[in-house]
Amino acid sequence: MTPTIIETQAIDGQKPGTSGLRKKTAVFMGPNYLENYVQSIFDGIGGVAGKTLVVGGDGRYFNDSAIQIIARLAAGNGAASIIVGQNGLLSTPAASHLIRLNGTDGGLILSASHNPGGPDADFGLKYNTPNGGPAPENVTDKIYAATTTISQYKTIDATDIDLGTLGETKLGDMTVRIVDPVANYADLMASLFDFDAIKALFASGFTMRFDAMHAITGPYATAILEDTLGAAKGSVVNAVPSPDFGGGHPDPNPIWAKTLVDEMMGSDAPDFGAASDGDGDRNMIMGRGIYVTPSDSLALLAAHATAAPAYAGGLAGVARSMPTSAAVDRVAERLGIEAFETPTGWKFFGNLLDAGRVTICGEESAGTGSTHVREKDGLWAVLLWLNILAKTKSSVKDLMQNHWSDYGRNYYSRHDFEDIDSAKAHACFDALRAAIPTLPGQTHAGLTVESASEFAYDDPVDGSHSAAQGLIVAFNGGARAVLRLSGTGTVGATLRLYLEALETDPNKLTGDPQQALSEVIKAAHAIMQIEAHTGRDAPNVIT
Ligand code: G1P
Ligand code: ZN
Repeated sequence: MTPTIIETQAIDGQKPGTSGLRKKTAVFMGPNYLENYVQSIFDGIGGVAGKTLVVGGDGRYFNDSAIQIIARLAAGNGAASIIVGQNGLLSTPAASHLIRLNGTDGGLILSASHNPGGPDADFGLKYNTPNGGPAPENVTDKIYAATTTISQYKTIDATDIDLGTLGETKLGDMTVRIVDPVANYADLMASLFDFDAIKALFASGFTMRFDAMHAITGPYATAILEDTLGAAKGSVVNAVPSPDFGGGHPDPNPIWAKTLVDEMMGSDAPDFGAASDGDGDRNMIMGRGIYVTPSDSLALLAAHATAAPAYAGGLAGVARSMPTSAAVDRVAERLGIEAFETPTGWKFFGNLLDAGRVTICGEESAGTGSTHVREKDGLWAVLLWLNILAKTKSSVKDLMQNHWSDYGRNYYSRHDFEDIDSAKAHACFDALRAAIPTLPGQTHAGLTVESASEFAYDDPVDGSHSAAQGLIVAFNGGARAVLRLSGTGTVGATLRLYLEALETDPNKLTGDPQQALSEVIKAAHAIMQIEAHTGRDAPNVIT
């Protein structure tokens, strides 16, 4: 079938951020917006003629129509085939797995992750490479360059594909394979974990609540936790994905998953609680009466990973993003394995995972994952926790408290100042950057600055250099404050202030993080002058 060539013009601002291109849904639905970006992805990766791509998304508003547009462009550009999740649905980790399982030339994932969905909310699109991971910067740079010079896109004249029917069909000359979004992923999970031990745990009366937040993990969690592992029916709540995530904000943290937090802190709390985000790559972990910070979860999973068959032989190494707490580093030290500190964003873990240098990695933003795919994976983290709970026969609280007694506790919190005027946020950031040379030796709120720096990363595998990855103010005694500008927002700017302090006194391990961090918070504000620059004296989200 001859492609139809449509003339177009470059559209400003189609620059991929921390995780693909994210914009307001209405922007994505604007004339030629999606078409331009998809054609630019294809051009940026050297064309898709004869190639196979995985396509799927988190089911947010515009997901299905966007898939039809993408499919027509793929056909117009001569792709051999696309593999699409039924009804256009695929969690991000499941998409990563399908790319790897089928040896495809990559995939397109439609998601704005934990951002709200709907006509007035957010939409996103990212390209993942054949290793299943988010495109690294050298690829996203080429895609962005293509968006600035595009003059036409290729599509075909065709009616919509029936996304609801499993099996193979044709769109022009291109083969379209509609697959069950859950089946292959569920098989992968069964191959990694001791499902018998987890089944026995549930059979013994262990209770859990999984909040799918009206997002993509509902079907995955129901199939695996309830139907396969025997968690009581109803353990998975908000399990039906909806285009606007039930009007909620599908970000699994104590603010947006407050109902779960309240239940887990209540007198009738289940043994274990978890939640996942819009596209299923994030996780929140709770036990009865305890919230586990993502940084602590990463450390605990690394320390106990050998409980699961997939990791029984030990870990090659671990990696964390720079703002993530150093808790996992000390586990690595004890295990005698390498620990890497990468910039924020999952794409920086890809090379380390591919090279076999690390087995488990994670970010403070509720992302943990391993070599099994090249994305963070919410349900994977939940299953590894369950596997560890089944094997150790401990509660979440006991496991965490023993971990802190053993390694010390990295008190940790992230303070987000969202929706700030972009110029003011940048001014605040630039002022701190400019002050870096003058900070060492200064004392604020009783804390003396030991060093200050701007984080840059040299990838140990391919030698690529990533500059300007956040500002670090380190204090004597191991406390630290980090300032970054978010790269995933769609309005204004978000300043992220990351706070950390190491506590090794056995009598001070179970305190409130905001209390334990109060001096670091004061010192950070004295140095960074966030209020003076932005008019905001307090964060609007604390995690
Ligand atoms: C945020 C998180 C980061 C994560 C990304 C995608 O990016 O901080 O860790 O990889 O979302 O889920 P940011 O908005 O900070 O650029
Ligand atoms: Zn996500």
